[in-house]
Amino acid sequence: MEKYYLTTAIDYVNGAPHIGHAYEKILTDIIARHYTQRCDDVFFLTGTDEHGIKIQKTAQSKGVTPKELCDENSQKFKDTWKALDIDYTKFIRTTDDYHEKAVQKIFDKLLQKGDIYKHSYEGWYCQGCECFLNPKDLTEDGLCPDHLKKPDIVSEENYFFKLTKYKDAIIKHIKEHPDFIMPEFRANEVLNQLEDIQDISVSRAKSNVQWGIDVLNDPEQSIYVWIDALSNYITAIGYEPEIAAKSNNSENLQLQQTDTDLSPYRPIALSPNFKKYWPVDVHVIGKDILKFHSIYWPAFLMALDLPLPKHIFAHGWITIDEAKMSKSLGNVVSPTSVLESFNLEYPDAFRYYMATSAPAGRDGNYSDEDFKEKVNAHLANSMGNLLNRTLSMLVKYFDGEVKPEFKGENPLAKKALGTVQIVKNHFDNFEIAEAGQEIIKLVDTVNKYVQDSAPWTLAKEEKMTECGQVLVNVLDVMCIISSLIYPYCPNIAKSMSEQLSFDLKTKLDNLTADNIKIGKLISKEDIKPVFLRLDSELADKSSKK
Ligand code: ME8
Ligand code: MG
Repeated sequence: MEKYYLTTAIDYVNGAPHIGHAYEKILTDIIARHYTQRCDDVFFLTGTDEHGIKIQKTAQSKGVTPKELCDENSQKFKDTWKALDIDYTKFIRTTDDYHEKAVQKIFDKLLQKGDIYKHSYEGWYCQGCECFLNPKDLTEDGLCPDHLKKPDIVSEENYFFKLTKYKDAIIKHIKEHPDFIMPEFRANEVLNQLEDIQDISVSRAKSNVQWGIDVLNDPEQSIYVWIDALSNYITAIGYEPEIAAKSNNSENLQLQQTDTDLSPYRPIALSPNFKKYWPVDVHVIGKDILKFHSIYWPAFLMALDLPLPKHIFAHGWITIDEAKMSKSLGNVVSPTSVLESFNLEYPDAFRYYMATSAPAGRDGNYSDEDFKEKVNAHLANSMGNLLNRTLSMLVKYFDGEVKPEFKGENPLAKKALGTVQIVKNHFDNFEIAEAGQEIIKLVDTVNKYVQDSAPWTLAKEEKMTECGQVLVNVLDVMCIISSLIYPYCPNIAKSMSEQLSFDLKTKLDNLTADNIKIGKLISKEDIKPVFLRLDSELADKSSKK
């Protein structure tokens, strides 16, 4: 694997980030960190979606300009991702100049090609979705099923994209690539939606929506958000269609002969980054915007003669105490408020909890009680204590020294290395919670091994070599565990690997069961708990220090 390119959805900036946004960025960051353990070149893109009527209206109601609102809120997203250790490669804003210019050219290219045309239209426009709704999809009371708001009747002359032209090709692609839409159970939903698709409006009259990118040669129209938003995945890595110089050299003639649409454009101007990273390995998105990513986006890409994404992974939704998060219910939870209310020095526990809150593609839930219980059980009691107890025994019985005779056949090796393979397979299917469960299962197995082998009894019986062997068997596997838990809990993993003198940069495929070096490993004062139980006195003290 020579590169891995992955993206999140870009968030609307008409508010501050909530834990639903955080869930997606945490999942994607975990996938990105996992692939850094498998390849050298990972590009992780995230950002904010800043145009459209919703943002225009929010700004108006606050008495600020749309740009001021975007600047303020986009920064809140960046700050939150920093607090959560979301280690993205690039943050794109759709108001970035290079993006706006590239989108204008993309739109113009599709217009020149005849895939975009002008058309008068009247329909139901939902501001929440930023799209026209099919009347048959409205609720009995005529509301948008997602936003439970009455859509506006909008009647204007717009540009339309010939989605119908690509319908058959998209259906074929989905059927031939069962791993295109993941989890697979969502593919049928998309195939059903494809049944009655129509051409889509891709612009709005400037008189109605001012906060958008102008159509290149038609300042009366602004480009409607989905072409703008989806294009971020290619503009961020340097894609830009380019007007070909009108010349008669044979190279150009050849190009034109193979191009049935006689587009005035060269096929594509490929910057080195774009060539290297496209097609994307995975777009991580929420299930609510799957249609845009698995129907509209592939059609735009086909129209641009670009290859399609390898995978689109649609995650489920996060509820709060089993209720839908909404401003009107007043139950919107900010990720940083969770870190604050639990006095968390690092975001690891929150990352772990969110990432394991639901099986791949299913809805998950956040509750304070459950959060506390789960991370105390898994991270403090099972994993943290295991390392702490084992290192403490090594210090107590052997002054922290690993003797050559402690090394030998490790009965845990097969299970540990097998878990690495299982975890890799889960990640290939974006099963982040499932992979997390396997890691904790391995921790449980090691705990049981310690319990069964009872090294404290061996020490009492003065079977010192046997005792040392048990401890080193455990520590060798703790190195593997630190590596596997790293994507979820990078700070905890760092602390574990430091105490084990293990190189956390070891690639997963180079992991063995022989990681602990012979000689002095650790002294008493260097043993530190890697995760303190929430609400424990120690945790309280350390956060107040
Ligand atoms: O849809 N649980 O932006 P957005 C889980 N700008 N995920 C959630 C969630 C929840 N409660 N609420 C939102 C947009 N999300 C567009 C995307 S991409 C080219 C343009 C997820 O701010 C949602 O599913 O409404 C989406 O993937 C992301 O947060 C941004 O949502
Ligand atoms: Mg949304």
